[in-house]
Order: sequence, then C-alpha cells, then structure tokens
Amino acid sequence: MKIIVTGGAGFIGSALCRYLVNEENVQVLNIDKLTYAANLHSLDSIADKPNYHFLKADICDRAAMYQAFADFQPDAIMHLAAESHVDRSITGSDEFIHTNINGTQILLEAARTYWNGLEGKAHEDFRFLQVSTDEVYGSLGKDGLFHETTAYDPSSPYSASKAAADHLVMAWNRTYGLPVVISNCSNNYGPYQFPEKLIPLMFHNTLKGKPLPVYGTGANVRDWLYVDDHARALFLIMQKGRPGEKYNVGGHNEKTNLEVVNEICRIMDRLHPEGAPHERLISFVADRPGHDQRYAIDATRLEQELGWQARENFSTGLEKTIRWYLDNEQWWGPLISDVYEGERLGLLVDEETDKK
Ligand SMILES: NC(=O)c1ccc[n+]([C@@H]2O[C@H](COP(=O)([O-])OP(=O)(O)OC[C@H]3O[C@@H](n4cnc5c(N)ncnc54)[C@H](O)[C@@H]3O)[C@@H](O)[C@H]2O)c1
Repeated sequence: MKIIVTGGAGFIGSALCRYLVNEENVQVLNIDKLTYAANLHSLDSIADKPNYHFLKADICDRAAMYQAFADFQPDAIMHLAAESHVDRSITGSDEFIHTNINGTQILLEAARTYWNGLEGKAHEDFRFLQVSTDEVYGSLGKDGLFHETTAYDPSSPYSASKAAADHLVMAWNRTYGLPVVISNCSNNYGPYQFPEKLIPLMFHNTLKGKPLPVYGTGANVRDWLYVDDHARALFLIMQKGRPGEKYNVGGHNEKTNLEVVNEICRIMDRLHPEGAPHERLISFVADRPGHDQRYAIDATRLEQELGWQARENFSTGLEKTIRWYLDNEQWWGPLISDVYEGERLGLLVDEETDKK
C-alpha cells in the first residue's frame, strides 16, 4: 500500500511515519515544507529504509501536489500538514488560513483529479484521511463529552482554520464522492514534540530551574493521548473507517493543566532531583485569550467499530516521555538555542504593553 503522509516531519506525522514504515507492504511518501515546527532528525531511525521517501514541498504549491500524486500513485493520503500552535494563531493567523484551509483545498483537488483517473478497485479503495482536532468542537462545561455529532464551534484562529478544512473535506465527499474520512483527536503528548507545547515546555523549564508558566488558574481540562496510540488509530481509521464519516480519538485521560504540571514536577523530582521540589517553580500567568475550558472525547465509535484501544495510560506515558527528553538533549537542544527559547506566545498586544 502506498501512502502519502503530509506533515511527516512534525510531531504526530513523524510518529506516524515511524509506525507506517514498520508495517508490512507499506510505502510512505512524506511531504513536508519543513517549517519551524519540523525536524528531520525525528525521522533518523527510518530515513534510510527503502519504503520511506521524502519530498520537501509546500501543500499550497498546486503544481507540486499534482506532480506528487502522479509520480507516487498513492492508495491513500493521510493529511497532517498544518500550522498547529494555538498561541501562534492568536498573534498571526495568516499562515494558519493559508496552510490549513487553502492548502487542504489544494490537496483535495489534487487528490480528486488523481482519483478520477483511477479505475475499479483502486478507485473504490482510495482514501483521503483528514487529521483533525477536538478543538473544532469548542469548549465543554463541567460535564459531557464530544461526540462525532457534536456541532463545530471553534474558539481560536487555529481551531477555526481546522474546522473550515474539515468542512471542505466533507464537502468534497458530498459533492464529488471523494472517499474521505475525518479523525478528531484530543491533545497528544510523547517524544519529539516541539518545545513550545505544554509538556515539553514544562520539562525544559523544570530542567533549567525556570518559572513554569501556567495559564489562568490552571483549571482548563484537556484529554491526553500518547502519540503512538494516535498513530495506530490513524492507520486503522484510514484502512477501515467508513468513507464520509468522522471518528473521535481519545484516551480517557482528562487532566487539568495544573495536574499535568504537578505530575511533571513529581516525575522530575525523582528523575532529576537537582532543584527539587520543582513545584516551587509554578507561576500563574495571564490566561490565553479565548481559552477553551474543557475538552473530553467520546471515542466509542473508534473503539467499538474498529476495535481500537489506547495502550498507554497517562502516568506511564508521561514518565516515558520525560525519560525520553532527559535522554535526548541532542534532539531538543538545537531547537531551544536556535528556534524557540521558551518565550510567551499568544498574548494580545495591549496585554503585552500592560505588562511593561
Ligand atoms: N498536537 C496535537 O495535540 C494534535 C491533536 C489533534 C490533531 N492534531 C493535528 O495533527 C496534525 C499534526 O499536528 P502536530 O502536532 O504534529 O503538528 P506540528 O506542528 O508538530 O507539525 C506540522 C508539520 O506540518 C508541516 N507543514 C506546515 N505547513 C506546511 C505546508 N504548507 N506544507 C507542507 N508541510 C507543512 C510542518 O513543517 C510540520 O512538520 C495537525 O493537522 C494538527 O491539527 C494535533
């Protein structure tokens, strides 16, 4: 089976590529523009495998995308390429609209043109998997879960751009019959995550004895999933998901942000006692504008229809993740010194001015 993965040099995309190339009879073409969030070292372990191929290209480059489909002749595309950081979308939404919405439309058209030229089983079996987020559903109150039928109600420029892309994907199914499937997943964590995201940021700050910035009161709830569980779910959904349907992906791991930070501190107290107790570094800072209160996923459809179960629970997964960061400074060290030093992102201009 030949699969195009877009965004395969990012956090989830690289986990997916590492997973796919070890499956039987799978050929992968990773298409990635290599933005600030990409890291080809995340793919070192598979870079020389004969069933792994890489194309540096922008999904917004129409000609390059048409060519990639024509050259590689895929059986499926798993679309992950996106601008993915909510805080960056608050201070600059242009790239989010461009890549997440326009880029998805270009891929849909490239896929449709290619798919129209396929015949018989190849035409019938082709799949376009749109990898999306639970953030498109907006915010939950204290109770309830996101179901596949929950109406979209996004709050940030990031989640609005992903919601728009999902609508385009479904429209290409209803209008042109393109066999698409959409997955909506909760927050991922694990090795190889860019240091701007909550868990790696808190790890680096505890290691360096720097303040641990918790937004607001730290009461916002996220439903955490280990990235390898997500990669497994994506392959399953792509192969067995019903065209025109959506599948929620989540691991039943609801935690407040403060609980996550406290747990990282406790793990660091054991694994890196220098500077313990690390909880003393917690510092409450101005909340993220439009910060959704709670996300929680009902993954029953994925579990019952496709037989998927999360394998990692949050405590074991988090410890595994922290151990990986402690052992892999050669991966994250250059990112901290050259790309992102841990500065606060996503504040509105007047809030920044107020602080000065
Ligand atoms: N991280 C999460 O918790 C999470 C949860 C659910 C869904 N998702 C979705 O999964 C996907 C991957 O998320 P991630 O956390 O791995 O993101 P990431 O930011 O780590 O990686 C994104 C990748 O896309 C590439 N990219 C960006 N713009 C591109 C363009 N125009 N052309 C080609 N490549 C481009 C980047 O170079 C990078 O390698 C995204 O679509 C995101 O919305 C993420």
